[in-house]
Amino acid sequence: MNKINVITIDGPSASGKGSLAREIAKIYNLSILDSGSLYRLYAYFAQEGMKSELISNVIQENIEFKLCDQDMIIMNVDKDITDDLRSENIAAFASELSSNREVRNALFDLQRSFYTEKGLVADGRDMGTVVFRDAKLKIYLTASAEVRAKRRYLELQNRGQEVNMPALIVDIEQRDLKDSSRELSPLLPADDAHIIDSSEMSLEEVICYTKNLIKEEYL
Ligand code: DC
Repeated sequence: MNKINVITIDGPSASGKGSLAREIAKIYNLSILDSGSLYRLYAYFAQEGMKSELISNVIQENIEFKLCDQDMIIMNVDKDITDDLRSENIAAFASELSSNREVRNALFDLQRSFYTEKGLVADGRDMGTVVFRDAKLKIYLTASAEVRAKRRYLELQNRGQEVNMPALIVDIEQRDLKDSSRELSPLLPADDAHIIDSSEMSLEEVICYTKNLIKEEYL
């Protein structure tokens, strides 16, 4: 298989994929694809009543992803919809839609279209196993459910939301089970992925480890 200049970062929710992807994109000046946001956008437009055959075109034409400092801002024409997309309501609907074959097929070409010659870092659940099987470097980033729940707890607390740690752990475990046991594109490391368990690593340590992999296999 001809390998293309893509670094895939897959893994369960709250494993730190997004933060790692944004840091790596910044350091190596790569384009970035947060595939989870496409599933959320699909849910957002479907909830507004848009016909499914129109959604991926509308995403391609009307949506702009802006990297501001280390945050990804998502604009729908000139309206900032980042917070709408992060809501629990959209997350739950996106999760439901993500097991639908029609939705996954509709988003496949859109995800591939993020590839540019300068290179791409793509994060999600099936970047290395399905969408970019031909990627030069594949990473599967994971951490224990407790550690991921703690990270999510701090993130939600920072946003001023009330959170309950035991409920978060149960929520994360249920989502893991759902993501890894679904029939289509289940959450799995690709055979040729490097598995990083970040339970006892800081983001800086994960970045450093990834930079070494990039030197060995990507550059
Ligand atoms: O990473 P996230 O929470 O923003 O993803 C939103 C939903 O989309 C999540 O339920 C899993 C799904 N998803 C997927 O099925 N495949 C991907 N490549 C990315 C996300």
